[in-house]
Amino acid sequence: LSNGLAQTPQMGWNSWNFFACNINETLIKETADALISTGLADLGYNYVNIDDCWQDITRDIKAIPESKTFPSGINTLADYVHEKNLKLGIYSSAGVFTCQVRAGSLFHENDDAAAWASWGVDYLKYDNCFNLGIKPIDRYPPMRDALNSTGRKIFYSLCEWGEDDPALWAGNVGNSWRTTDDINDTWASMTSIADLNDKWAAYAGPGGWNDPDMLEVGNGGMTYLEYRSHFSIWALMKAPLLIGCDVRNMTAETFEILSNKEVIAVNQDPLGIQGRKVKVTGTDGCLQVWAGPLSGNRYAVVLWNRCSEGGTIKVSWDSLGLNSSISVSVRDLWKHKDVVSDAVGSFGVHVDAHSCEMFVLTPKLSHFREEKPYINRIDS
Ligand code: GLA
Ligand code: GLA
Repeated sequence: LSNGLAQTPQMGWNSWNFFACNINETLIKETADALISTGLADLGYNYVNIDDCWQDITRDIKAIPESKTFPSGINTLADYVHEKNLKLGIYSSAGVFTCQVRAGSLFHENDDAAAWASWGVDYLKYDNCFNLGIKPIDRYPPMRDALNSTGRKIFYSLCEWGEDDPALWAGNVGNSWRTTDDINDTWASMTSIADLNDKWAAYAGPGGWNDPDMLEVGNGGMTYLEYRSHFSIWALMKAPLLIGCDVRNMTAETFEILSNKEVIAVNQDPLGIQGRKVKVTGTDGCLQVWAGPLSGNRYAVVLWNRCSEGGTIKVSWDSLGLNSSISVSVRDLWKHKDVVSDAVGSFGVHVDAHSCEMFVLTPKLSHFREEKPYINRIDS
């Protein structure tokens, strides 16, 4: 969507994955405080997004905050986060109710958008429950127009669960669109969502991104290495990086993953091309190479072992569209080290089960390829 936002994928935090409906204004303020004190805000995590359950079941002209949990009102919260240089996100549904049966915004688009703008809201996640069987392509554009007519810049995140293949129609509707059903905090869910999201890579780019759902890193259902895979692949796929854990109480391992600057830089690279699964070997294709071009003629590569045992994974230059005689330097983004200065033809390492290694490959200057990405964006 050309509203000037989402030039790179959005980063921040959202309440749903860890807190579900157990939210209130104190939690939102403490989360904003924690994003600052941990340094995550400085790394780019600047949206503080309230998910379902902030609003009452009944509505006025506009949706109204639940008085028990958000007694001071959303405008007061917006002021609080803005003072910290953060942005506030809100949630509703393109239906008569939200998924947790609070007031939805279908047929109230203009009134709700006007209220959010007047409160100082910066981001809307717009869900798909209780939609009366009306097609997403008919329900989502009215909110785009309503947000636009407020004159306030509001990031528009579509949460239509991949219904009717949004990559094909949402490019001029939203700043991101969900490509799948909800993620849950398991290896099986995370890996299958990565595969589903991969299919739509060519439709992502500055202004509009595929959304394979929010991060589960730190929520306890996966191992450290599995979470590292989750974060690396989401970064490579130019997915929104929306933290879904309790940032007030993170372990050192969780923080190490979420704060990896070099991995974040891949996600936020200005070229904005979604990395893809480019090669698989091993049993059922469980040894995988995922890769994509970066600015400055570089490539990001994730060697991802989805097998139940360790194994060697190798990326060859031809799967990147690079001439195999070219000499390449390789930087390891998890070890934070330059590991090889002159790899030719391919580069491989041992990768533990359910782990990944992530690299930036820089071809030697004298061998620059043409400035032409190997995938051209398809605009919907
Ligand atoms: C849907 C969305 C989730 C979350 C819940 C809230 O399931 O897909 O991301 O917002 O609703 O009820
Ligand atoms: C159901 C759930 C929603 C959402 C969708 C996804 O409708 O109630 O929260 O997860 O499935 O398909």
